[in-house]
Amino acid sequence: MLGTVQLGAAAACVVVLVPMGMAGWHLSRNKMLFFSGALFISLAICVHLTPYFPSVPDFVTSISSVVVFDHRTSCINLVNDISWQVSPKNASSRLHNNATHDLDLYEKRWDWSDSHKLKACDFQKLSKPDASDLLNGSWVVVTGDSQARLFALSLLTLVLGSESQRMDSVRADLFRRHSDYSILVDEIGMKLDFFWAPYVVNLTDLMTDFETRKTCPDVMVMGDGLWDMLHFNNASDYEFALRMLKTKVVSLLPLSTELAINEPVVGSVPIKSSSHLFWLGMPVLINGMLNTEEKREKMSDAMWHAYDQALGDSKLLRQTGGPLLLLDSQSLTWNCGPHCTSDGMHYDGAIYEAAVQIMLNTLLIESHQRL
Ligand SMILES: *[C@@H]1O[C@H](CO)[C@@H](O)[C@H](O)[C@H]1NC(C)=O
Ligand SMILES: *[C@@H]1O[C@H](CO)[C@@H](O)[C@H](O)[C@H]1NC(C)=O
Ligand SMILES: *[C@@H]1O[C@H](CO)[C@@H](O)[C@H](O)[C@H]1NC(C)=O
Ligand SMILES: *[C@@H]1O[C@H](CO)[C@@H](O)[C@H](O)[C@H]1NC(C)=O
Repeated sequence: MLGTVQLGAAAACVVVLVPMGMAGWHLSRNKMLFFSGALFISLAICVHLTPYFPSVPDFVTSISSVVVFDHRTSCINLVNDISWQVSPKNASSRLHNNATHDLDLYEKRWDWSDSHKLKACDFQKLSKPDASDLLNGSWVVVTGDSQARLFALSLLTLVLGSESQRMDSVRADLFRRHSDYSILVDEIGMKLDFFWAPYVVNLTDLMTDFETRKTCPDVMVMGDGLWDMLHFNNASDYEFALRMLKTKVVSLLPLSTELAINEPVVGSVPIKSSSHLFWLGMPVLINGMLNTEEKREKMSDAMWHAYDQALGDSKLLRQTGGPLLLLDSQSLTWNCGPHCTSDGMHYDGAIYEAAVQIMLNTLLIESHQRL
């Protein structure tokens, strides 16, 4: 009650004082009367309408949830912003590691760029326990060409631990040429499937397969382009294939939500609310380093850009309104540079490790565990 009285008094003051202030501003008496009347009427309307509007705290919450949502989107846009420090290893560590490979001569450190905006997103490299927690009970599918295979290796290295004896057999089995691979990490009930799918049409076939079997992985990472470029060398055909893939993925998405609703949450962390789909981009190709004449000729910079343009035009990615979130191999490999690859196409493990961390941080944001 007191509140109302005070409010009334304040309103009266405004109605009286504002026009008086304006009088000092050399307004005519008629104008002053007009202002005072207008103020009185608007305040009266406000006072009478207030009960019909949500209370102020509700209003503030709804505004702040919009802000949070915005923040989340902008952090997803910034998550690929990684900078590298590539420096020659010192002589003693080189000797110790018996570096026979040019790649091993350089130390690569990476972190999210040091900008004010990125700090607010609080990205961090997830440790083995954190990653295990996040992926507990989930079904992860990685599919595509050798880039995807290296990504799968990096993810398993994180979840199993690089020193783990199991990693030796993982490495041997995963790199059997042109084959699929499947592993169940029992400790956390995570299943990882790698499907060898060198062309976009293979990815589309896989989506069709999921659709007919009415299953959908919780997390899916896919990416293709290099094989297409080498063997078909036609960017407009590539774009067409990507459009078909997009249509297929979009038709699979409602199924994933439906499945998630009917399924109990297994993991300690709810990434299962729906599928999380990623596109592993093409790395930068360093033409002079490519290891065959055919590759150097067909996989030119101009062709690379035509393929990149095709990806943009296909509207497959979230940033162009599509369903897939980009793991930006282009920016990772470009920023790491020529010391990070031995054949101009396959890069150092650090690149794929960074891509895995980008994915995990995106999962954290998407599953509403962090801003
Ligand atoms: C380093 O590797 C070479 C050949 O790969 C081998 O002959 C040499 O014994 C190795 N040195 C050490 C210190 O491991
Ligand atoms: C995974 O989730 C299960 C069931 O919620 C839980 O019992 C187990 O401890 C979790 N494991 C890890 C590594 O978080
Ligand atoms: C991928 O698609 C190509 C072209 O249709 C086909 O020849 C090949 O067998 C497929 N590969 C796999 C692994 O499905
Ligand atoms: C790419 O393929 C399309 C049709 O599939 C064809 O019309 C076009 O000429 C091809 N482009 C090149 C550069 O071969």
